Amino acid sequence: MFGKIKSHKQQGNKIIIGFEQIEVIIQVITPSIVNFFASIACERRKSKAIEQLVPVPGQVAVHYSNGKLIIRTEKLVIDIADGFFVTIFDHKGTVLSEDYRGDAVPFIRRGSGDGLAVAAEEGHKLEDERNKLNIKIRKKMEKDMFFYGLGDKTGHLNKKGYHYKMWNTDDPSPHVESFEAMYKSIPFFIALKEKQSFGYFFDNTFESVFDMGKENSDYYFFGAVDGNLDYYFIYGPSVKEVVGGYTYLTGTAPLPQLWTLGYQQCRWSYAPENRLREIADTFREKDIPCDVLYLDIDYMDGYRVFTWDNKQFPNPEKTLKELKEKGFKVVTIIDPGVKKDKGYSIYDQGIENHYFATDKDRIPYVNKVWPGDALYPDFSNEKARKWWATNQKIMTDAGVAGIWNDMNEPASFNGPLPDDVSFNNDGVRTDHREIHNVYGHYMSKATYEGIKQATDKRPFVITRACYAGTQKYSTVWTGDNQSLWEHLRMSLPMLMNLGLSGISFCGTDVGGFGFDCTAELLSRWVQVGAFTPLFRNHSSIFTRDQEPWAFDEQTESINRKYIKLRYQLLPYLYDILHNEETTGLPVIRPLLLHYQNDPRTYEVNDEFLCGENILVAPVVEQGAKARLVYLPEGDQWVDYWTKETIAGGSYIVKEAALDLCPIYIKAASFLPLYPVQSYVGEKEIDQLTLDVYPPEEGQSSTYSHYQDDGESFDYQKGVFNLYEFSAHKSDSGNELHLSIKKKHDGYKKGYHSFKFILNNTKASAVTMYGKQISHEVIENQTFFSVEEEGDIQIKL
Ligand code: GLC
Repeated sequence: MFGKIKSHKQQGNKIIIGFEQIEVIIQVITPSIVNFFASIACERRKSKAIEQLVPVPGQVAVHYSNGKLIIRTEKLVIDIADGFFVTIFDHKGTVLSEDYRGDAVPFIRRGSGDGLAVAAEEGHKLEDERNKLNIKIRKKMEKDMFFYGLGDKTGHLNKKGYHYKMWNTDDPSPHVESFEAMYKSIPFFIALKEKQSFGYFFDNTFESVFDMGKENSDYYFFGAVDGNLDYYFIYGPSVKEVVGGYTYLTGTAPLPQLWTLGYQQCRWSYAPENRLREIADTFREKDIPCDVLYLDIDYMDGYRVFTWDNKQFPNPEKTLKELKEKGFKVVTIIDPGVKKDKGYSIYDQGIENHYFATDKDRIPYVNKVWPGDALYPDFSNEKARKWWATNQKIMTDAGVAGIWNDMNEPASFNGPLPDDVSFNNDGVRTDHREIHNVYGHYMSKATYEGIKQATDKRPFVITRACYAGTQKYSTVWTGDNQSLWEHLRMSLPMLMNLGLSGISFCGTDVGGFGFDCTAELLSRWVQVGAFTPLFRNHSSIFTRDQEPWAFDEQTESINRKYIKLRYQLLPYLYDILHNEETTGLPVIRPLLLHYQNDPRTYEVNDEFLCGENILVAPVVEQGAKARLVYLPEGDQWVDYWTKETIAGGSYIVKEAALDLCPIYIKAASFLPLYPVQSYVGEKEIDQLTLDVYPPEEGQSSTYSHYQDDGESFDYQKGVFNLYEFSAHKSDSGNELHLSIKKKHDGYKKGYHSFKFILNNTKASAVTMYGKQISHEVIENQTFFSVEEEGDIQIKL
C-alpha cells in the first residue's frame, strides 16, 4: 500500500515522507509523543478529541541511511523502512514497539456448510461478519504483554487476547465479557511489557476495532472502516506518564463542584414531585447524607426535552427551591431525541434553523425514541451546539443544578440510524458513520458550555456515550448494568480502564440498574461506590426499590456507614481531582499504576487504589465473609479497621463481615478528612482533620492539600489555598516531627485549626513553638489540635 521511501523533508517538528504510493506525515508533539498520519480517505480533519495541541517537540533529528529513515527525539528513536514499517526504540536501543511484518493469519475457526445458519437459528451469537477495515495497523506482540484502557469495555482489566469494537452501542441486555462494543468509544490503549509502558491513541471516529491478539497471538492490531491513518504513539516508560501523555493530548477532567462528589440518588423515575420530596425527607430523617436527587424522563411533558409535566411538577421552580433549602441539588435528564411535534418550540426552532440531522436528501431524519417520532439535533454543527447550549438555561433557570445526557449513542428504537444520515460536521458535511461515535461527545460539550454560560459555575454534566476527550465536559456512568454480582465485579476493571482512558470522573449505577437488587448486593455495592468519584445509586422502572433504606435495618445502617465515610473523605477525593486536572491521573486506579515494578499487580481485577493512599479490596461474591487481598510490594499497608501494619508484596486473607469492606491505607500517608455532613455546605468547615499514618524510623512523608470555594472558576485566578503537611520520624523512633505549611494563600476562608489523629502512635508530649499542646491518647492513637501553621514536635 505504501511502497518504497522516495523522499523526505523536515519542517520543524514535522517530517513528510513521500512513499511511492502515498505521503506520510510524522509529527513530534513532545519528545515522548509522536503522531503518524496518512490521508487515506479524506483530507485531514480537525481532531474532535484534541482541541488544543501544544507541540513542545524538543530537538528532532532526521537522517536517511541504508533505505531507512531515522527520526530521533530526545526520548525516542523511530526507524521507518520501506512499506511504512515502523520500529520505535528508547534511547538505550530497546525496541518498544514494532510493526508486524509477517502475514496476518487468523486462528482457525472450524465450522462448515450451513452450520452457521443452523446455529444462528437456535439463537447462538456467532462471530460477527467483521466490517471490512480500510485501515489496519498491525504491531508485533511480545510474549509478556498486558493491555489496558479502551474505555468502558466489559471483561477483565487486561485486554490481551480480546477483540473490541468502537461503535457506541446501547444494548440493554446484561453486559457480559463477549460484548465487543459498549456505550463509549475511546480508541486508546496502554501496553505494558517488561515493566515498560507505552500507549497508542488512534484518533479516528469511524467504527474501529482493536484486536489485542485474538486474531493471532503473534500480533495485535487496530483499524477502522474509513477515515485516515492518524495515530499517536505515547511513550511512558511509566503507565502514569502514558496517561499523562494521553490527557496532555485530549485534556483532563476539570475540577468539579464539591457537591458533585456527594452521594447521589436516582431512580427511573421520582415523580410526581411528592415522591421526590418524600425521598429527600427520608434521607434527612434517616440521617443518611445525600446531595443530589435525579429526575428521569417522567418529569417531562410527553418526553419533550426542556419541558415539565405540569401535572406531576406544577411548580418546578418552587419545588427545586424548597429542596435546595434542605441541601438537595436536582439533576434532570435531557435526551437528544426531540419529539416531532409542530408547535413544540424546541422542534420548531430546530426545523426552522436546520439544526437536525437529515437523510441524504436533506430531509430531517426521523427515528423513534421515548417521545415516539423524534429528530436528532446535529451536534456536529457548531450553530446547533450553541442553540442546545442556550437551551440549558431553561433548566438552570428552574433551579436545576446539573444535566444528565442519556441515549446519545445515539439510541434509536426503530432500527439503527442508516449510514447515510447526513451531518454538518462543522461545515465539512459527512455521514453518520463519521459522527456516530462523537455524537454524545458533542452533546456533552454543548451541555457543558450552556451550563457554564448560564451559571458561571463549574458545570455538572453526566453522559452515557462519549469519545476520547469527553472528560473535558462530562462525567460518565457505565450505562444500564444490572443488579448482578457479576456486574458489581465487572464494574471494577471497567472503572479502572475508564480512568486509564482519561475518564477520571466516572461511576456505575450503584446497586445495579436492571433486575432486582438484594440487600446483600446493595450492601457490598455501596462499599465500592463510596470510593468511586461518581457515587450514584440508580435503578430502573419496575425493579424493586433500591434506596439505602429499601431493604432492612442492617442494609440501611451499612449504607449510612459507607455514605458517611464518603463524606469524611471528601477533601481527599477533591485533592485527587485537583491533581488530576494537571496530571490526568484518575481517582480509581489499578494497582499497577503505582506498582509497575510488581508484576503481581498486573491482573488484579478486584482491588483498586482510590488515589495513591487508599487500597480498596471489596467483597464482590455473594455470601463471602472473607477474601484474599494482595498488598503491592514496595510499601507497607495499614488495615483501616484494625490499624495493623502489613508488609507489601504479600497475599493475606481478610475476614469481612457484611458491614466490612477491606480497606488499607498506605503507610506514611495523610488522609485529610471533613466532619460528616448531611450535604456539602451544611457545615462551615473551619477545621481540617488529618488522619496520619506515620512513616517508619528515619523516613518522611508529605501530602499536599487543596482548598477553594468548591464551585466557581475563581480558583483559576489563584483563589485557592494549598497546604503542605509533612511528617518525619527520627532515626531512633523517639520523635515524630510534623509540619503544616501554607504554600499558596489565595482563598480567604482558610482553616482555623487542624486536628490530628496519629495512628499507631502513643505520644508522651506534643509541642509547638516551644509550648505544650494538650493531647489525648486512646489505645493506639494520639489526638490533638493546633490553630496555626508551623512545626510540631511529638515525643513518643
Ligand atoms: C436509559 C438510561 C437509564 C434511564 C432510562 C430512562 O436506559 O441508561 O439510566 O433511567 O434510560 O431514562
